[in-house]
Amino acid sequence: MPERARSLTVAITGASGSLYATRFLVRAVRYFDPLYLTLSGPATRVAREELGLELNLADFRPEQLMPGVPGVDKIRYYQKTDYGAPFASGSAAPDAMVVLPCSMGTLARIAAGTSDDLVCRAADVMLKERRKLILVVRETPLSLVHARNILSVTEAGAVVLPASPGLYHRPSTVEEMVDFVVFRVLDQLGVRDPDARRWMLPPDSTE
Ligand SMILES: Cc1cc2nc3c(=O)[nH]c(=O)nc-3n(C[C@H](O)[C@H](O)[C@H](O)COP(=O)(O)O)c2cc1C
Repeated sequence: MPERARSLTVAITGASGSLYATRFLVRAVRYFDPLYLTLSGPATRVAREELGLELNLADFRPEQLMPGVPGVDKIRYYQKTDYGAPFASGSAAPDAMVVLPCSMGTLARIAAGTSDDLVCRAADVMLKERRKLILVVRETPLSLVHARNILSVTEAGAVVLPASPGLYHRPSTVEEMVDFVVFRVLDQLGVRDPDARRWMLPPDSTE
């Protein structure tokens, strides 16, 4: 099990899978403090398609993604143009960062070190500080360009964790499939959520 992360940045980008972000955040508020959040513009476009939410980066509030969830007020949102965010500096970087879902565009910019928005700058900080960076990429099929970018960020220390749920726990809902990935991300952060189903282990196992 990796060392337990205490502080975390979450970035939501414009790949399909807004539900990964919302279901991850509902769990993350229980485990991380501070918990920072930023979104790309295309993330709001995808959220409109997939969640039916009309989000606006300028006046976004985390409650819009997860209304009524206890702890949602703890989440500190920063606009993607705000390079003054604490997690944009190595001196105040959190223990870990998760980009979920992570588009191929954001993957490419992280691989190239462009730091041209807060998502990419924060990821760049995690790599330079040798902290945990998890990219929950989603695209299919993958081009050679995508594969090279995955190789590049992996060599730089990131964990590429594709949004690719297993089926061996026989999920019967989309939420169960999404949670398969959410729990794998939490595992990477050193958090063993008691609701995670584990191969050959009883439910709520903390082994
Ligand atoms: C409904 C919808 C679904 C999309 N799904 C994906 C996807 O699964 N993977 C991906 O890499 N891009 C996807 N895109 C395209 C990205 O949103 C687009 O490349 C965008 O520039 C990514 O910008 P960002 O990385 O700053 O969020 C999707 C776009 C839309 C509108």
